[in-house]
Amino acid sequence: MQMPTSIAFLLLSTLLLSFTFHASGLTLIQLPRNKRTLTFRSGQQLIYRNSLSSASLPPTLKTGDICLLKTFPDPHGQYDDIGIGVYNEESMYAIRILAHHNSELYKTLEGGELTDEEIVYSIFSRKLRAAQSSRLSLGLPSPSTDSYRLLNGEGDGLSGLSLDVYGPTLTVAMSSAAYVEIHKETIMRCLKDVLECEDVVWKRTENRLMQDGFVGEEEEEVVVERKEQNIILENGIKYYIQPVGSQKTGFYTDQRSNRELVSGLAEGKTVLDLCCFVGAFSLNAAVNGGAKKCTGVDSSKDAVAAAQKNAELNGVDNCEFIAMGIEAYMKDAISRGLEYDIVILDPPKLAPTVKSLERASRKYHALNRDALKLVNKKSGGVLMTCTCSSAMSTMNGGQYFLNTIQRASLAAGREITLHGRSHAAACHSTSPLEGSSNYLTAALIGVAAEE
Ligand SMILES: C[S@@+](CC[C@H](N)C(=O)[O-])C[C@H]1O[C@@H](n2cnc3c(N)ncnc32)[C@H](O)[C@@H]1O
Repeated sequence: MQMPTSIAFLLLSTLLLSFTFHASGLTLIQLPRNKRTLTFRSGQQLIYRNSLSSASLPPTLKTGDICLLKTFPDPHGQYDDIGIGVYNEESMYAIRILAHHNSELYKTLEGGELTDEEIVYSIFSRKLRAAQSSRLSLGLPSPSTDSYRLLNGEGDGLSGLSLDVYGPTLTVAMSSAAYVEIHKETIMRCLKDVLECEDVVWKRTENRLMQDGFVGEEEEEVVVERKEQNIILENGIKYYIQPVGSQKTGFYTDQRSNRELVSGLAEGKTVLDLCCFVGAFSLNAAVNGGAKKCTGVDSSKDAVAAAQKNAELNGVDNCEFIAMGIEAYMKDAISRGLEYDIVILDPPKLAPTVKSLERASRKYHALNRDALKLVNKKSGGVLMTCTCSSAMSTMNGGQYFLNTIQRASLAAGREITLHGRSHAAACHSTSPLEGSSNYLTAALIGVAAEE
């Protein structure tokens, strides 16, 4: 039986072109010419391992190696450029594309004889500058906000790294990919050169790094030239910030626009801020919104102590902060007949995976039911209810979360309406192709007065 010419050609080219190196010195990986490869050419950044089943993979290739990506040639010897990527031996993301074929960056790097470090430096410095100018176009930094997400992983074309800036001198880097750890020295140099920041705190997202096959021996955080205390500014409000040893980066920059939304509703109102962390929703309502009184509740004693200090820093005396589980607080408040005009509910990630959705939904149901019971019965009011679980935010286009709240309203015996849904602040950019990275939802719920 004779083999069709096209298949014979493909096999021959696979054999001939496997394990080759491009003139640039970069390891060349070739992918089959098919529909999936087209998505990588058109902007997709993550190449799953199963897409590489018939790709040419040099046996010497190891995690962190920079590689040049092209298709196999067609019968006329023509191939298509895909981009420059970084390889991982263990992760389900076998290759993360760092520069696509149609970018100026790719054109500059493809031909040059550069080391992996030089390429990483060029890519990171170019993308950092691009992220800076995109934040400038969002008006960041501004006289009222000097703390925001400067770089958001795939949203800024650098899968595996996020950066928050806290004022002009402090940057917190969060790494979630093995290659970022492997090239850390180069990336650090780049951060210092481009951002001209004095202090960098390096944090690891351990679970994601483990999935990427990276188990570090160092401490979780590496601090470079750390200052004792920093004061940052967001929406005109000051906060003490201590990223080392704190939750996440020490401040949640993703809720900035939702805090603004709440402050616009707060004039003369009473506010309950559930899971208040360092008090940012309360302070926005009190300082910018003119709220009558704010009560913040959080189970972390450190966070509550920080919230109190932040209230003093802003000269506010109508905010109280209570260190307590919100479940117990709400039960007690309901039994005492306490009511609030505005309730904010911003719990931690309760559904880390799609598998855990059902269990998490029961928890969201109970929390929202009790939060709704605490909204002013005589005049009605609003509940801003949040989820920072990607699975919850994206399941059925977010409808799953809203259904849970609707069921909670029935259990609470309150009539509700949805005024709107918002997400993370604009500086938390996402790739248009990765819509599911919209992990945060804040639903603004109107709660009717009881007749
Ligand atoms: C997503 S953060 C809240 C961020 C905050 N709303 C802000 O705007 O910065 C979740 C917070 O919930 C707190 N937390 C976790 N479980 C809790 C519980 N059962 N009761 C009260 N607070 C809790 C954590 O300490 C953390 O501060």
